Order: sequence, then structure tokens, then C-alpha cells
Amino acid sequence: MPLSGRWTLTRYLIEQRRRFPGASGDFNALLLDVALACKAIARIVAFGTLADTVGTRLPNGANGIAPGGQLNVQGEVQKPLDVLSNEIFIRMNEWNGHLAGLASEEMDGPKQIPASYPRGKYLLVFDPLDGSSNIDVNVSVGSIFSILRAPQEAIDSGRDVTEADFLQPGAAQVAAGYAIYGPTTMLVLSVGNGVAGFTLNPNLGEFVLSQPDIRVPEQTQEFAINSSNSRFWEPPVKRYVDECLAGKTGPRGKDFNMRWIASMVAEAHRILMRGGVFLYPRDTKDPAKPGRLRLLYEANPIGYVMEQAGGRASTGRQPILGVKPSALHQRIGVVFGSKDEVERIERYHHEPAPSEAPAPLFAPRSLFRD
Ligand code: AHG
Ligand code: MN
Ligand code: MN
Repeated sequence: MPLSGRWTLTRYLIEQRRRFPGASGDFNALLLDVALACKAIARIVAFGTLADTVGTRLPNGANGIAPGGQLNVQGEVQKPLDVLSNEIFIRMNEWNGHLAGLASEEMDGPKQIPASYPRGKYLLVFDPLDGSSNIDVNVSVGSIFSILRAPQEAIDSGRDVTEADFLQPGAAQVAAGYAIYGPTTMLVLSVGNGVAGFTLNPNLGEFVLSQPDIRVPEQTQEFAINSSNSRFWEPPVKRYVDECLAGKTGPRGKDFNMRWIASMVAEAHRILMRGGVFLYPRDTKDPAKPGRLRLLYEANPIGYVMEQAGGRASTGRQPILGVKPSALHQRIGVVFGSKDEVERIERYHHEPAPSEAPAPLFAPRSLFRD
């Protein structure tokens, strides 16, 4: 299929750069290398169990699907494709001179740029394969990335990066996005000027602009949550879900639909395309883990894309992008999607639960108001 007048990712980035006449082009070059890493991962994912029969080098000679890898820093089993995707991100980006350092879900601490390559001004943080437990069952997975500026003094001195350099709030991201490896491979990206979607044309090996201005509908009747955790939810989340489930006859006066893919990247994509709300809230399941998802390479980049698309991303209590991170692998409660629903969930976190609310006689508009 020819391009038929559509823009490639390269052209989109060049047109965006025209807004900044002084820009060096480093940023665009970096994004193209990130996109190349995603294309390489897309190919490997597409081969599935056949990956080892087509010459793809998998770590430890393992089959691309069989579990049994090492544990990552978070105690999760790394699948061979988690490890390989991580390596692809590193190899495609460490040499280009645009990065001061990298960090990812699959590495304990920051990865330094090897001495043989120049160091640049950006930091790349990524989840190389999100939803990787779904690989075994051929459900969509993806890669999530976030680009930050390194501290000026680190750029000037060219010193090694430290964990502290990465602990910047999501609002400081200069770009973020994800690739989704589904029936088609897509790249969804924000460089701080809205959100654009690109579909991989497999004949050309090019990402082609297919959704130039993605907007999340402000209202929705669809929510996504892992309800097997309901006994651990905090009261505002319970209230929200109960009200959705009550449907037409409940306080919301309308029926809701529910989805749970267990690939956040796929849920985020659905919500960007047609609206909805996603919750992986803080709960009481494991007091050592204030939430399931990770702030720096899951919540922040997806939060940035959501907000840039007119949606909202929150911890339930405050905007995700305002949270000052305290650790590279910090976990956090996450709620994102259609603005009206996320705002409602935030309101429920700030209001007393209906059962704790003052009895009507003592409520602000009552007879006994003082
Ligand atoms: P990862 O594969 O990068 O570790 O992330 C998986 C995450 C996320 O994609 C998904 O929303 C969530 O884990 C699924 O959690 P449950 O297994 O609790 O449903
Ligand atoms: Mn993930
Ligand atoms: Mn992952």
C-alpha cells in the first residue's frame, strides 16, 4: 500500500520541530531511534513461538514464550521477551549521543552510556514490554516510553547519571508514548502538542500518521478494573464501582460496560480511541506496595498522553503528573481516562463516603446549619 499523501513519523516530527526554530534535531533523532526499537520488538513479538526458528537470538537460548527467566528488581519473573525487548531499547539508543542515561522496569538502577559513545541531554525511561504475561495467550502487549531532560549540571559535566536524576515529576516529561503490538502495530506519541497515532505500514517498515489529533471523549459508560481485588479496595473506589454496577436504577442512572485486558497499554489505547476509565487504585492487598503500576515508566508516560489528549490521569487524590517520585521503581495508584469520570473518582476520594456524611438534618443546607 503506498503512502497516499499521508505523513510518515519523520515528517510529523520535522513539522513539529518547526515550532522551535532553534531546535537541534537531537530530540527528533532520539524519537526515531525509540520508534526503531519498537519496530524491532514488534517483529519479534509477531513471530511468537516461532521466534527461535527464524534466527532471533533469545536470551539463554530460551523459547520466546516459555516462562522461567530471572526475577527482576521487583521480584517478578522476567520472560525472555522482557529481557530481549529491554536489550533492544538499550542497543538502539545508547550509541546516538542524545542520551545521558536510561532506566527501565527490567534494570535495578540507571544504565550508563558506554564510554565509547558521546553523552547527550535526555533521559529515556521505559517499560520494554507491558502486559508481558499476555504474550503466552496472544493478546496485545506494548512498550511504554518517557523522555526527560537530564539535569543541566549532569549534561555539562558528562558525569554518570544517578537514580535521583530520574526522579522528576511527570509534568517534566518532554515526550512520552507507547507502541502497541496488536492486530496492527501502532505508535502513539505526544511531544507536548496533543497526541498523534501512527500505524506501522509493514510493507514500508514506516510508522504512518493515521490519527493526527487523538482526543479522549469526556464522558463514558465503560470502566476497567481488576475486580478480583475488590475486597482490598478503599471506600471511594468501592463506591464508584458499585454505582457503575447499579446501572440505570442506581445513582448514575445509566448502564456501564466493563473491560479488563490486563495489558495497561491496550486499555490505554482503547480509552484513547473511544473513551473509558481505567483504575488500578491504591489498595490494601500488600501494604509494601501502594498500587500495582510503576510511576516512572507506566503511570507518567500514559498519564502524559491522556492529559495531552484532553483526558485526565490521577492517583485518585492528585494529578499523577504532579507527583514527585521518590524511587525509580515506585508504585502508585492509577486512575486515567475520560475527564468527567476521573474527576468524579477524585471527588469521591475527597468527600466523606455517603455513610460517613453528616445526617441530612446537620448538613450544610439543613435547619441546624450554623
Ligand atoms: P508488566 O507486564 O510490564 O509487568 O505490566 C503488567 C501490568 C499492566 O500492564 C496491567 O494493567 C497489570 O499489570 C495487570 O495486572 P493484574 O494481573 O493484576 O490484572
Ligand atoms: Mn508494565
Ligand atoms: Mn513490562
